[in-house]
Amino acid sequence: MKVFINKRIPEIGINMLKEAGLEVFIPDHDNLSREEWLSYCKSHDMILSVGAEFKYDKDFFNECPNVKAIALYSVGFDHVDIQEANSRKIPVGNTPDVLSKATSDIAFLLMQSVARRASYNFEKVKVGNWGDFDPLHALGQELYGKTLGIFGLGRIGFEMAKKSKAAFDMNIIYHNRHRNQEAENELGAKYVSFEELISRSDVLSIHANFKEEQKELFNADVFKEMKENAIFINTARGGFHNQKDLYDALAEHKIWGAGLDVTNPEPIFKDDPILELSNVCVLPHIGSATVEARNGMAKIAAENLIAFSKGEKMPACINPEVYSEKS
Ligand code: DGY
Repeated sequence: MKVFINKRIPEIGINMLKEAGLEVFIPDHDNLSREEWLSYCKSHDMILSVGAEFKYDKDFFNECPNVKAIALYSVGFDHVDIQEANSRKIPVGNTPDVLSKATSDIAFLLMQSVARRASYNFEKVKVGNWGDFDPLHALGQELYGKTLGIFGLGRIGFEMAKKSKAAFDMNIIYHNRHRNQEAENELGAKYVSFEELISRSDVLSIHANFKEEQKELFNADVFKEMKENAIFINTARGGFHNQKDLYDALAEHKIWGAGLDVTNPEPIFKDDPILELSNVCVLPHIGSATVEARNGMAKIAAENLIAFSKGEKMPACINPEVYSEKS
């Protein structure tokens, strides 16, 4: 069976696929046009999909009837129409767990960076403005004993809550589709309504899977209900927040600051005014960018395709219902 990988991934995954007897094709350049990408997809049985620029929607599935399995090189799957995959009984795999620590590390880093105004101070140093000791200038806020609100308390949210509890003894509140018993028992996390989450959080951090119906859920109406000292963190998907509304809330000091590893749109425009604000830290979607996480993702993606090629269930499958429907 033939596997198409649209961008080079760590060798460990490529070697696993080859050792399992699969034929692997990786184009010699990264910036494929949609036409090039589609033509490669059409001539392969399985896809190991890197990045989210290409959508696996109805058009894709109609145009590529030979594709039998997709392994995403990501935990997020908002670029895949799962219903369409289901209707064609195509299993779609993702890469949970291996990136939870790395991604929550970035949320934790952004929280501290914004609280202590690291970007602002670094900019000052870079332009030669170290400044004299000033008891009143550029003061941050401490996180000890503050309330961390988690929107979407799954694996990554749990890791963020665990670190924040251990480091700063933060109180954890959360809003989720389901209660998270482990977080309630181990971290004393309290389930709250969405309204309570936004009005009580000193730090509000998004860790949910993005769905279209949640588009720009965090908008002016929400920012105006948040505390003045609140820090907004988004390491999940940029689509969760309305960036203009976030800019306004930050510029008018309705909230304290924001740390973003994802933006709306993504990539962010170079001249986006939010980049001019001193209470913001923006990173270019590097949540899973560690050697350990990226190797782990390569391994799981390969395991998913190898299992499929042997007629077995993918170990990390987003739509396991395709298997029960088959039997
Ligand atoms: C993920 O795994 O979903 C990361 O956001 C990278 O896309």
